[in-house]
Amino acid sequence: MKIMIVGGGGREHAIAWAVAKSPKCEKLYAAPGNAGIAELAECVDISVMDADSLVAFAKDKSVDFVIVAPDDPLAAGVADAFLDAGIKTFGPRKNAAIIEASKAFSKDLMKKYDIPSAAYETFTDADSAIKYLETQEAPYVLKADGLALGKGVLICQTLDEAKAGIQEIMVDKKFGDAGNKVVIEEFMTGREVSVLCFSDGKTILPMTSAQDHKRAGDGDTGLNTGGMGTFSPSPFYTDEIAKFCEENVYQRTIDAMAAEGREFKGVLFCGLMLTEKGPRVLEFNARFGDPEAQVVIPRLKNDIVEVMEACADGTLDKIDLQFEDNAAVCVMLASDGYPVSYKKGFEIKGLDAFKEKEGYFIFHSGTKFADGENGEKKVVTNGGRVLGVTALGSTLKEARANAYKATELIDFDNKYMRHDIGKAIDDEN
Ligand code: AMP
Ligand code: GLY
Repeated sequence: MKIMIVGGGGREHAIAWAVAKSPKCEKLYAAPGNAGIAELAECVDISVMDADSLVAFAKDKSVDFVIVAPDDPLAAGVADAFLDAGIKTFGPRKNAAIIEASKAFSKDLMKKYDIPSAAYETFTDADSAIKYLETQEAPYVLKADGLALGKGVLICQTLDEAKAGIQEIMVDKKFGDAGNKVVIEEFMTGREVSVLCFSDGKTILPMTSAQDHKRAGDGDTGLNTGGMGTFSPSPFYTDEIAKFCEENVYQRTIDAMAAEGREFKGVLFCGLMLTEKGPRVLEFNARFGDPEAQVVIPRLKNDIVEVMEACADGTLDKIDLQFEDNAAVCVMLASDGYPVSYKKGFEIKGLDAFKEKEGYFIFHSGTKFADGENGEKKVVTNGGRVLGVTALGSTLKEARANAYKATELIDFDNKYMRHDIGKAIDDEN
């Protein structure tokens, strides 16, 4: 089969690695891909949002199967464009990707179908939002309705901070139109777990659990980022919690979407908080997480192409989804200054050390090729999050030690990372 991946970050690199090793994959394309994906696929410089050019390219190359991985193109209907052109596609249509693209939609869905989540109110004007805040107690949770690169959630400790947050989101439009509506949510406490699920619209198969570290600094300090590292599985996601979520969250959500005429095919990412009152949904995403994919996919035993095709074909009930009985940790190597401001273009050294190194992976997030000496290409930093270093181990502790050892193999100017990815597991287990 000829397969094409739409996207160009670490998540897409992890997907590309799994797709490329499938016996079903004869030829792999990526749009736009990146310097790491280029080792596995032919990369074509088309924007993930340019549906017309993507479809034209796929037709020209007789692509049999397309995987649309990032949130923005899914929310904009890029999967629809492929499907409407008669090309088999993995990823939800726009009318289902709304479960991520509108927090107000997903909160209303959860309320209507009794899916456990925080209490909330939605506002379309700043004055009403502020009046409501005055009746609530700190901390205040404000969520811009639309997609905001994972940065549209503000947790405010004081009323003044919350009012300023409403001003930023709804009046100053810090996140653009994503802030036309705001959800104000009850503050919850507990451990967070990400559970990514394959779905064909009827059947839903949860993958192994993972946990992200979103803050930039050690000890969960500093600004929110796209994710500084992950581990899988989460020891806090017990069999009992899994059973509760299978009954009350995953299947119920897929059935709710179907009942609303919004058949969900692809990956449903359930961000959960394990509260004292039981698991609650923090958010849904309509795609693999990044960097959750970088720890979950290396542990998948199945042929990912078979599973993804079953999602598209509606035959997921025939799949026996299995994961290795091991653990994985991914440490993000970022550019110092991320997520605020940082320099790009530094040469990355040590990438070859990962070649053929069993149980170790280097997934490119923000890299590109540049001209080196003697006409050779070199790989340089091209983003805030640069590389994800993933290592497997028989336990989380071992995977963590392996991952941190492997980060030493890579060198570039302004290299920055957190030193406590998965640390809680050392303390508590
Ligand atoms: P979200 O994008 O909705 O997952 O929110 C980003 C982060 O904000 C989550 O990973 C949580 O750490 C935090 N958060 C979101 N909603 C709540 C809530 N209701 N109570 C406490 N923390 C929250
Ligand atoms: N790592 C969080 C996300 O992908 O949304």
